[in-house]
Amino acid sequence: MTRPILVTSALPYANGQPHFGHLVGAYLPADVFVRYHRMIGSDVLYICGTDDHGVANTLAAEKEGVPYREFVQRGWDVWNDVCGQLGISFDNFSQTCREVPHYALAQEFFLRCKKSGHIVRRDIEQLYSPKTNRFLADRYVVGECYVCGHDDARGDECPKCGSWLEANRLKNPRSRTDPEDKLELRAAWQFELDLKPFSEDPLVKPWLTEFRKGLKTNVSKFVFEKMIEGEGLESRPITRDLPWGVPVPNVDLDGQPIEDVDGKVLYVWFDAPIGYISSTMEWAERENKDWRRYWIRKDGEDGARLVHFIGKDNIAFHCIVFPSMLAWQQVDGDYSLTGPGKGEQYVLPENVPANEFFNLEGKKFSKSDQWTIDIGPFIEKYGVDRTRYYLIAAMPETSDSDFIWRDFKARNDKLANAFGNFASRILKFVAKHFDNRVPALGSETLDRVTNEVRTRTEAMARAIEEYRFRNALDEFLGLAEDGNQFLQDTQPWQLRKTDLAACGAALHQALQYLPALSALAQPFVPGLAASLRTQLNLAPRGAGPLLPSERLAEGHALGEASVLVAKIPDEVIASELEALRGTPED
Ligand code: 2FM
Ligand code: ZN
Repeated sequence: MTRPILVTSALPYANGQPHFGHLVGAYLPADVFVRYHRMIGSDVLYICGTDDHGVANTLAAEKEGVPYREFVQRGWDVWNDVCGQLGISFDNFSQTCREVPHYALAQEFFLRCKKSGHIVRRDIEQLYSPKTNRFLADRYVVGECYVCGHDDARGDECPKCGSWLEANRLKNPRSRTDPEDKLELRAAWQFELDLKPFSEDPLVKPWLTEFRKGLKTNVSKFVFEKMIEGEGLESRPITRDLPWGVPVPNVDLDGQPIEDVDGKVLYVWFDAPIGYISSTMEWAERENKDWRRYWIRKDGEDGARLVHFIGKDNIAFHCIVFPSMLAWQQVDGDYSLTGPGKGEQYVLPENVPANEFFNLEGKKFSKSDQWTIDIGPFIEKYGVDRTRYYLIAAMPETSDSDFIWRDFKARNDKLANAFGNFASRILKFVAKHFDNRVPALGSETLDRVTNEVRTRTEAMARAIEEYRFRNALDEFLGLAEDGNQFLQDTQPWQLRKTDLAACGAALHQALQYLPALSALAQPFVPGLAASLRTQLNLAPRGAGPLLPSERLAEGHALGEASVLVAKIPDEVIASELEALRGTPED
C-alpha cells in the first residue's frame, strides 16, 4: 500500500501582510507538490491555518488598539482570501486561536513532554519594563544579535543570520514600543524544553540520519553544520508571561497541581506547529475521516510521509524543535489522551523543503516603503496562471531570488509562444483543413511523441519528488518545445500543399503532445490545463498515473481553439516599473 502524504505550509502569523515572498516560499511550492500528487492519485492531504499567538500578533493588535481575537480573525480573512486568489488548494485552513481542538492538544503536548522528562522549570533573568510593569518577551525587545552582531535583531530571532535568540542575551536591549524605557533584568521563571539530548535520542537518531540524506543543501547546512554540530542545542524557554496564548495547564497528567502558572502561556513556537495537527483534526471531523492516518504510526510501520514547506527563517523549529516535541510524546501509564497510545508514535518529517528569500527588483518587499506589488490587483490584471507560472519559474529554491518585471514579461511571452501558440496553431489548422477532427495516422507511428512525452513526464515527476519545482516547470515547457520542434521537422503547413494524408499524419502526431501538456501543466497552471482540455474536447482529467499518456483517437472531434496565453506589451511593464520607482525609466 502506498503511504499517505501529509503536506503543510508554514502557518502565517495572522498579523503578516502577505506578499509574493511569502507565497513563493511556503505556499506555492507546496501547492504544486499537492496538486501533482492529487493528479497521480496519491492519498495526499494539505494542511495550514494562521499562527495567532505570540508577540508578532500582540504587538500589532495593541498598536491598533484592537482586541486580540478580533485582530487575528481579520488576519485569517486576509490570508484566506489571498491564498484563494492564487489557487492555493488547502484541504483545511484553520486558526491556532480555536480552543477546540487546538488548545487542548497543545496542552497535552506540554504535559506529555513534561512527563517524559524533557520540560524543566528554570529560574532565569528576564527583561522587565519599569514603565509598564511587565516582563518583555521576544519581539517586544530589540537589540544587537549576540551571534552575528546585527544591530536590529528581535528578541526571538535575528533577521540577518536567522539565529533563534533569547531576548535577555541581546546586547543593548531596548523596548520596541518605547526606546526610552530603561529595561532591567529581573528574576523570573519559565518552563524550558531541554533540547540537549535531541540528536542522541533513540527515536530521533535513526530518523535524523535518514532525514539528513534527503534535505536540500541550504537546509541541511543550517540544521547540521550551524546548529547541531556548530552552536549545539540547549535548553530553551517554552512559556511566556503574556495575556494571549494557550494557557500553561495547572494540573499534570497524574492529576497533580502545577504551581504558579497563572498568567503563563505556551511560547508561540511551541503551540504553532501543533496547529498542523489540530487543523488536520478539524478537517477529519468535518469530512468524517481519520486524522491519525496522517499523524500516527505504529511501531515497525512507516506511517505517512510528512513534508513541511517553509521559508528559511523557520528551519530550526521544523527540523529540531517540532520533531523533538513529536518524539517526546511517549509516556508510560494509563492516561486518556488524544495522541499516540502504546506501540504508536507521531510521524517525524520526511523532508522540510525550505526556500530562501524572494525580493523585488533587488530590494526586500516592503509595504511601508511602497516597494511592493499588491497581490489582488496583480492577479486580477495578469491572471492566476500567469502569476503562478512566473512565481514558480523565479522561485528562490537554492538561493535568494527576485521578482523582476522584465523577467516576468520575458517568461510570460515564452510561455505564450512555446505553449499557447503551439496549441492554437495546431488546433486552428486542424479546424480549417480537417473538419476539426483528429486526422488519420496512416502508416506513421507515435514513437517520437511517445518517447518525448515519457522522458519529460518522468523527469518532471523526479524533479517534483526532489522539490526542484523550477526544473519540473522546465520539463513542462520543454515538452511544448519538443512539440514545436516536431512541427519544424515535419512541416505540416508545407505538406498540405503536396500530400494531404502525410499532413494529416503529422498533425495526428503533433496533437498527441497536447493531452500530455495539459497533464504536465496541471500542478503549475491548473486554469490553463483546464482550458486546454476544453479546447481538446476532453473531460476533466481523473486522478491516475501519467503514463501512458492519454491519446486523441483518429476522428475525435476537437473543441474551439482560442488564445491560451496573451503576450504582455512593453508599455505595460514600463508603466509598472514607473509606478514602483516613482519615476519613468531612463
Ligand atoms: O514565521 C512565521 O511566519 C511563523 N508564523 C511560522 C509558523 S510555522 C508553524 F510552526 F506553525
Ligand atoms: Zn544575527
